[in-house]
Amino acid sequence: MFDREAYNRRVQWFQEARFGMFIHWGLYAIPARGEWVRSVEQMPEEEYLPFFEEFDPVDYDPRKWARAAREAGMKYAVLTAKHHDGFCLFDSALTDFKATNTKAGRDLVREYLDAFRAEGLKVGLYYSIIDWHHPDYPHYGDQNHPMRNSEAEKAVEKERDFDRYLAYMHGQVKELCTNYGKLDVMWFDFSYGEMTGEKWRATELVNMIRSYQPDVIIDNRLEVSGTGFGSLATDDPSPYSGDFVSPEQIIPPQGLKTESGGDLVWEACITMNDNWGYCAKDKHFKPASTIIKKLVECVSKNGNMLLNVGPDAKGNIPKESLQILKEIGDWMGKNGNSIYGCKGSSLPKPENGRVTQNGNKLYYHVMENAIGSVPLYGISRDQVKCVRLLSDGS
Ligand code: GLC
Repeated sequence: MFDREAYNRRVQWFQEARFGMFIHWGLYAIPARGEWVRSVEQMPEEEYLPFFEEFDPVDYDPRKWARAAREAGMKYAVLTAKHHDGFCLFDSALTDFKATNTKAGRDLVREYLDAFRAEGLKVGLYYSIIDWHHPDYPHYGDQNHPMRNSEAEKAVEKERDFDRYLAYMHGQVKELCTNYGKLDVMWFDFSYGEMTGEKWRATELVNMIRSYQPDVIIDNRLEVSGTGFGSLATDDPSPYSGDFVSPEQIIPPQGLKTESGGDLVWEACITMNDNWGYCAKDKHFKPASTIIKKLVECVSKNGNMLLNVGPDAKGNIPKESLQILKEIGDWMGKNGNSIYGCKGSSLPKPENGRVTQNGNKLYYHVMENAIGSVPLYGISRDQVKCVRLLSDGS
């Protein structure tokens, strides 16, 4: 039975934090064509392994990343501990395909956790339940696997033992939950077709996680991908529904509610350009002003934004991303009170912008100029105690 009381306690900090940093980093930063490069180009493992031999992030300093996140006004972060390529940024005892066996020679996850905790941020880990490196993960005929059309793999498909993969996957999640201190978010990615729910032995997985990390919040992708809600949006969530819905590259137009109209905790994950992982040619960055307006929109609809950075192969966040983070931080420094601890208001959406609310304070984000006064309907003058410009108190 779904424990609504415990749930509301668990998600409270998350709903107040509103703004986090997503970090997609790994071997794919070397080919620099995005984190799906192996699948998109149907790249055989032997073409990808040279990147494992080469990976040497000489500039990796997660304290710089953490400072950039904090100064941007972000309150939590989520780093890819393992993406679909199967490369582990953490020192897993269950595989050799890990950062400690590269020239990096370090546990990149441990250093990230230490650095972001030191800057006062809550810390999360993204873990891909999809694994294109593991021999027992479906290859031929799988929807996404780089070798999905390989006749050679077809010949050996029947030798794969998915239970052996699940033992590996559950074992790695246990490593993350027991070797790295308190985790605030576990961000799984992603379910598809019949690869969902108990196919992952998700109830057992979630029970194990919660036994070690009772306060951690989990996303909804043990059930769906970034385009689905999952059972969290029903009145009877499954044991692996997760704690928040994770719309990807979209701000839900009408916000998100459960099927009976209840509030639904959600977090929109958004890239700064068009790629999660580092993509050297992708200079299509969103202006900070756009991202700020979208963050306001998320909060006005009771949601969070997880804004992504994709560090390069040397361990540097791209300069365009750092500039955007700085501009967002300048705005958050003056206007953060209209984001943190806020949610939507019951007022109708005003013509010229959006409203966020915290208790008896309404924050009217004027995004379009008006000729004459700026109207705000749904509230009468005698209800208004005072009006102040948040950025300078005037
Ligand atoms: C998609 C992509 C994955 C990315 C995720 C972020 O699921 O498969 O590369 O990590 O979106 O939400």
